[in-house]
Amino acid sequence: MTTFLEKRIERIVILTGAGVSAESGLTTFRDSGGLWEGYDPLDIATPTALETNRDVVLDFYNLRRSDLNKCLPNRSHLAISHFQRAFSGHVFLITQNVDDLHERAGSPQVLHMHGSLKVMRCEHCYKEMKALQIFKSSTPCPLCLKSGNLRPDIVFFGEIPKQLDEINVEIMKADLFVSIGTSGVVYPAAGFAAQARDNEAICVEINKEKSEIANLFDYSHIGLATVEVPKFFSKVLLEN
Ligand code: OAD
Repeated sequence: MTTFLEKRIERIVILTGAGVSAESGLTTFRDSGGLWEGYDPLDIATPTALETNRDVVLDFYNLRRSDLNKCLPNRSHLAISHFQRAFSGHVFLITQNVDDLHERAGSPQVLHMHGSLKVMRCEHCYKEMKALQIFKSSTPCPLCLKSGNLRPDIVFFGEIPKQLDEINVEIMKADLFVSIGTSGVVYPAAGFAAQARDNEAICVEINKEKSEIANLFDYSHIGLATVEVPKFFSKVLLEN
């Protein structure tokens, strides 16, 4: 077990957002030039958008999937993965990201609370399957053969993020909560730091700039994820 500024740390929750994948070449949502500058999230990331403009929504995620296939994990994904395997206590990784860069960096566990670009599901037969590289509203479901019902397994605004019960238990028990590369504006993830604080966890933020909820953190490491994340986790391991 490790001590972190005099507190014994046995259980850690790490939350990542788009900033962790930015240096792999994936565009974030709310930075200048971010995805939500070029697209209105209401036209893309809601159940109504899917119902009314299915092909526009599917094309947006087809493009994200194709961008993802050109990217590699960066030093921050690798540092998190190394830390998960090297730390003697319990580490629980939650990501808001729908990319698979944590997995490709070798992370032994990752919970995708907003879903995954690599999974699609059929709203007719309710089965989940590996996502085809590109799919349209006319693409038939490979399992039930009906078309018009495939969607990426992404949590849209207005839908409930995945495995919230498990997340809440992990946060309740955490001694240290580390938030990396997220703007802190999308709930419920933006509420995790407050929850962790209420349960007396030490809260640390690693971000390119102070987030919207910076006041909730005991420590802020401002800088690029590829620099700050490896530095931070080596320090925690060194204190072990
Ligand atoms: P945002 O785009 O809102 O925020 C990204 C954060 O990362 C910002 O605070 C940046 O300052 C920071 N950042 C950018 N580059 C960085 C770098 N190289 N190193 C460190 N920090 C960096 O992305 P999220 O907070 O992840 O939801 O967005 C949350 C959710 O909103 C997403 O999961 C997505 C979106 O709508 C769904 O798709 C359901």
